[in-house]
Amino acid sequence: MLLKNPLQSKLPNVGTTIFTKMSALAEEHKALNLAQGFPEFDCSPDLQALVDKYVRSGKNQYAPMPGALPLREAIAKKTFEGSGREYHPVTEITITSGATEALFVAISTVVHPGDEVIVFEPAYDSYVPAIELSGGIPVFVTLDPQYDSIDWEAVKARITGKTRAIIINTPHNPTGKVWAASDLQALATLAEEQDLIVISDEVYEYIVFDGRDHISAASVPSLAERSFVCGSFGKTFHTTGWKLGYCLAPGYLTAEFRKIHQFLVFSVVTPFQFAVAEYLNEPEHYLTLSAFYERKRDLFNEAIKGIGFVLKPSEGSFFQNVSYANLSEENDAALAERLTREVGVASIPVSAFYARKTDFKTLRFCFAKHDETLLKAAELLNRALW
Ligand SMILES: Cc1ncc(COP(=O)(O)O)c(C=O)c1O
Repeated sequence: MLLKNPLQSKLPNVGTTIFTKMSALAEEHKALNLAQGFPEFDCSPDLQALVDKYVRSGKNQYAPMPGALPLREAIAKKTFEGSGREYHPVTEITITSGATEALFVAISTVVHPGDEVIVFEPAYDSYVPAIELSGGIPVFVTLDPQYDSIDWEAVKARITGKTRAIIINTPHNPTGKVWAASDLQALATLAEEQDLIVISDEVYEYIVFDGRDHISAASVPSLAERSFVCGSFGKTFHTTGWKLGYCLAPGYLTAEFRKIHQFLVFSVVTPFQFAVAEYLNEPEHYLTLSAFYERKRDLFNEAIKGIGFVLKPSEGSFFQNVSYANLSEENDAALAERLTREVGVASIPVSAFYARKTDFKTLRFCFAKHDETLLKAAELLNRALW
């Protein structure tokens, strides 16, 4: 070892993520990758042409620290149309390097050493490391992946004098659950009562099924007053590689958020911001996404219905969770690996989304794939020996 005083890990429990692991395994075994959550198809040629236009017209230097103003204005407009909340583009909207940065900065803005943060699990994997890097303590409210409703009394029971914030995610990764208006209302009451700050991860805001509405934290006035709402264009425009996201928050929260954002990245990729700003002028570009994915969900579910899985209703996002408890005793991580190696279909074991890797015998399949891929995956799964 080179160092006399060995480097102490700030994240001793963090290793390679399950997404990297399953994608590598899928690659190695030439399996269909329904594991990692990214679209198999490309973004619109019109959007590509807009990037080209702005690169060629010289939008290639630093954007303003809070983001290109036309993009902030376009986000203000779409947010007002979707939620009724007016965010001021100058003081209340910040463009970030994906929702990941928005979430990291929001958590860093709020959490001081010793603060507790309520996290619903199963949970997206970036929340806990961000809390821990700020010296905070994640306090879990554990839900079965098949959960129907939230037990708000159980949430309340986890709150102590040290609880500072609560992180929510709707539509939800991994379960596909979409929170009802009553959940947002219950959260608003609780947050007010307990003086909590809310961090709302809404990256799948435009992917909701069966006539549901996405209810944003922005749409409940008392909640919006104490919330950071984090969004991403990666999921909405099939551009996960652009890492373009945003954070909406009232001015008093945004001012502190930007102090951290400016020293983390300063600003994010300029021509893409202008391109997305122009593309947002046409609401059809994002309002058609639910129907696009609902058809894919139905195609996949129809094709796997004979296997004997119990399908969790996928109400939004691009994930389908299946319980296989009645087919196999295997734990979910072992089964996901076996299916990748032997059957040729990669998925994510939902235990990966739990702090204690609790095994609910549930796999998550991503259906943001070409129809042929979904049908082929279903055929392979149908042929598998259970
Ligand atoms: C729930 C959730 N939040 C945040 C992100 C990260 O979004 P971005 O790629 O914009 O950083 C993802 C990406 O998979 C996600 O599923």
